[in-house]
Amino acid sequence: MNQVEIIAPATVANLNVGFDVLGLALSAPSERMVLRTFEGNGVRLILEANSNLPLEAELNVAGKAAISALHKLGDPFGVEIEIYKSIMPGSGIGSSAASAVAAVVGVCELAKLIDKDLSETDRLESALDGEQIASGSRHADNIAPALFGGLRLIDPDGISRKLPVPEGLHLVVLHPQVVIKTAESRAVLPSRVLLQDAIDATAWMGRFVQSCYTNDLEGFSQSLKDLLVGPHRKPLLPAFDKCEQAAMNAGALTGGISGSGPSSFWVANSKENAVLISKALQGVMTSESVACHIHVSTVSNIGAHAV
Ligand code: HSE
Repeated sequence: MNQVEIIAPATVANLNVGFDVLGLALSAPSERMVLRTFEGNGVRLILEANSNLPLEAELNVAGKAAISALHKLGDPFGVEIEIYKSIMPGSGIGSSAASAVAAVVGVCELAKLIDKDLSETDRLESALDGEQIASGSRHADNIAPALFGGLRLIDPDGISRKLPVPEGLHLVVLHPQVVIKTAESRAVLPSRVLLQDAIDATAWMGRFVQSCYTNDLEGFSQSLKDLLVGPHRKPLLPAFDKCEQAAMNAGALTGGISGSGPSSFWVANSKENAVLISKALQGVMTSESVACHIHVSTVSNIGAHAV
C-alpha cells in the first residue's frame, strides 16, 4: 500500500472581466485529501462524520475525478480517498475544483511510484470530469488555477495559459456562510448580451492582459469590470452593495463576486491595506448578522501538490 497527502488551493474564478475564462489560485484557504492504493480496481471514499457528500464514487466530485484519472492510467490499482472539506461546497471559491484536482494529483503521485503519470491535458480533463458533477458544465476557470497555480486565462479550446501577476497584489476574500449553488447562480444569467456591453468587455479584457504584462496593479484593478454577469448576480449575495462601499472606503482598489458567489473578492495593494479591508467587511457582516469567514491572501503560484 502506498499513501500520499495532497493540498489543493481555493480559487477565485471570473475576476469580473473573464466570466468562465479567468481564475487564480489563492494562498489560503486550501483543501486536504489523503489517498492510498489497494490491490484491485475502483475508488472507495472515506468521508468526515458530518459530511453530506455522496459516498458513491461515481456521484462524488473527487471520486469521479479519481476514476477518470485511473482509467486514463490503465487502472493499475484501486484508490481509497479520505476527503477533508475545509472549503465549503457552494462557497464560490472553488470547493469542487479543489476536490477534483486534489484527487487527480493524488492519483498521479501514486502512479509515479510505478513509473506512470498523466500529461497536463489529461490531468485537466480528469479534473473536469469530476467538476462537471457539481457545476453541470466543463469550464476550467477554477480547475486550471487549482491544478497549475497562478493566474490562468483559458482559451476557447480549453488550453490554459499563465499570466504574470502585478507586484503587491493582495486579495481579501469574504465568504458569507450561506450557500449559492453554481447551477442556481448560472440560471439568473441572460443568454444574450448587448453588443455595446460585449465591445466594452472585450476592451477591458485587453487592458487587463496588458496590465499583467506591464506589472501595472492600478490598470489591473481598473480593468476588472463586470459588465455581463455581476449586475444579474449581485442581488443573490448578502449585503453586497454595503460590502462594496465598506471595502472601497477602506482602500480596496476594486472587487466583485468570486466565482458564482456567495463569496466576494477585494483587491488590495499591500497586506496592511488588506487587513483594513477585512476589518471593514467584518463590520458589515456583523451589523447584518451574517456569519462569515474572511481570508487575506495572495496569488499562489503552486497548484495542488503532495505534502
Ligand atoms: N465561472 C463559473 C461561474 C464559476 O461563474 O458560474 C463557477 O464554477
